[in-house]
Amino acid sequence: MPADRPDTVTPSPERSAAGTAVAVAVAHPNIALIKYWGKRDERLVLPWTDSLSMTLDIFPTTTSVRLAAGDGDDTVTLDGAPAEGEALRRVRAFLALVRDRSGIRRRAVVESANTAPTGAGLASSASGFAALALAAAGAYGLDLDATALSRLARRGSGSAARSVFGGFAVWHAGTATGTDESSYAAPVPVGEGLDPALVVAVVDAGPKAVSSRAAMRRTVDTSPLYRSWAASSRTDLVDLRAALARGDLEAVGEIAERNAFGMHAAMLAARPAVRYLSPATFTVLDGVLRLRREGTAAYATMDAGPNVKVLCRRADAGRVAAAVREAAAGARVHIAGPGPGARLLDEDR
Ligand code: PMV
Repeated sequence: MPADRPDTVTPSPERSAAGTAVAVAVAHPNIALIKYWGKRDERLVLPWTDSLSMTLDIFPTTTSVRLAAGDGDDTVTLDGAPAEGEALRRVRAFLALVRDRSGIRRRAVVESANTAPTGAGLASSASGFAALALAAAGAYGLDLDATALSRLARRGSGSAARSVFGGFAVWHAGTATGTDESSYAAPVPVGEGLDPALVVAVVDAGPKAVSSRAAMRRTVDTSPLYRSWAASSRTDLVDLRAALARGDLEAVGEIAERNAFGMHAAMLAARPAVRYLSPATFTVLDGVLRLRREGTAAYATMDAGPNVKVLCRRADAGRVAAAVREAAAGARVHIAGPGPGARLLDEDR
């Protein structure tokens, strides 16, 4: 599968300095098959382990960044409403980073529109910060290649590093301490015959009770299972890459499912426990097991929320979606394929 690379961003600094620059970017969420869970450096957002994901072709986020006059506070609008609290703080901290690199002090006006329910474990932070990184780099005149853009997006939200790329992407945890040079995502080639789909079962679209940031910290600091999950995740990654390369969907699914269950087991062993899975999650998981017993390759993965993403062959996606709907009445079900990397929209206003 060809890897989509975002366009290189080369707006004119003069135009930025005049305060007329605007850049608009679109990025899609990704779902990790090998999870990112736990930071070794909170400030630089450096993880303990590598992770690997599929970027989706649904639920894009579109973000515009416009430079305004003056160097006051940034204005941030999320889905038509002024951002506040933690969301506003994170976007402003990210823009401060971009300003530091660009040397342009002007404040920004950011407008971001999600098409997925925010905060429901559907990785809107990944598409959100990938789109923001690309649009902000454009507006502030940073000339970044895809690797540098991935590194920058990572500072907003770790998983955003992977949404810079289309298809499958691995985020290298990196080895250095005190610098983030070696921590970025890169495309992963997959075997011809894979043709995967992810059936997304939204059993609860509400915001999560514990942020992934806080939950990760608690898991790393207190869970006696964290280290063993991290160790097995390293082996899972090697196995998954091999399975992807030979286009072996069953093996990909088995590895992804065990990696996700291991992550949730580590969370449940944290003190106090971090529990994102709900009764509705297990109802969908029972449906996935039934599908497998009936001979359909279907495998589940869950993130920092109760929703379930079911990996299957694209040809089986309709049947899997119907089975999930039947298992969990009231769940909203979406079918996703591999999607494109982050890109700038050609919209100069
Ligand atoms: O990027 P964050 O801080 O929202 O963390 C995402 C963590 C998981 O979605 C649970 C796993 C992953 O690798 O995406």
